Amino acid sequence: MSGYPRFRGAEAKMHGPGDFEFSRRGMLVGGAASVAVTAVPPADAAAQDAASAGAGAPVLAKVSFKVNGKPQSLELDTRTTLLDALREHLKLSGTKKGCDHGQCGACTVIVEGRRINACLSLAVMHEGDAITTIEGLGTPEKLHPMQAAFVKHDGYQCGYCTPGQICSAVAVLDEIRAGIPSHVTGDVAGKPAMSADEIRERMSGNICRCGAYSNIVEAISEVAARRKA
Ligand code: FES
Ligand code: FES
Repeated sequence: MSGYPRFRGAEAKMHGPGDFEFSRRGMLVGGAASVAVTAVPPADAAAQDAASAGAGAPVLAKVSFKVNGKPQSLELDTRTTLLDALREHLKLSGTKKGCDHGQCGACTVIVEGRRINACLSLAVMHEGDAITTIEGLGTPEKLHPMQAAFVKHDGYQCGYCTPGQICSAVAVLDEIRAGIPSHVTGDVAGKPAMSADEIRERMSGNICRCGAYSNIVEAISEVAARRKA
């Protein structure tokens, strides 16, 4: 005989030296006895149930904002991030979840003209805000100039980071034009240059695991130069 188990489930019986009977009924009786030993008095149990029900119940709140120009009203668990509100509640899955910890930039969206990591922001903090996601920048038929430049310069491979890269890039050019300095700006009192160094520094929060960085910088530089002319 091979070494298959000698008994099936909890119903098996063994006979021989040190016989014992192992039955489902025995298991239930034993289980009931141990529950009886550790049982909590009914009044305390009811209080515990009420407390744990309160602790686990989500707190809901209403929030209204505009996403890609369209008014949206949601009732959400107050812990819902903007990223989950967009992806799970509004089904705008163009914005990607990478790390969910503010470290990769895959979730970048533009809120009131500024780029943010949607995974680090609670949806209920955005009452009345105008939010732009990759779906709001362009369409497959009519690409945003930054989307077209990414295609032209092969600024992606798997494409997972690309929506965040493009939203970030659009906002980066606005930041430079608005004169907001970065870590590599030489003269913080002057106007930052529209240079590859500035673009690289400002895009450093958007990670690309495929390493498409040089093509991404080329794409952004082309759009920057076009708009300068
Ligand atoms: Fe938000 Fe990575 S998913 S930064
Ligand atoms: Fe694959 Fe950037 S294109 S992660």
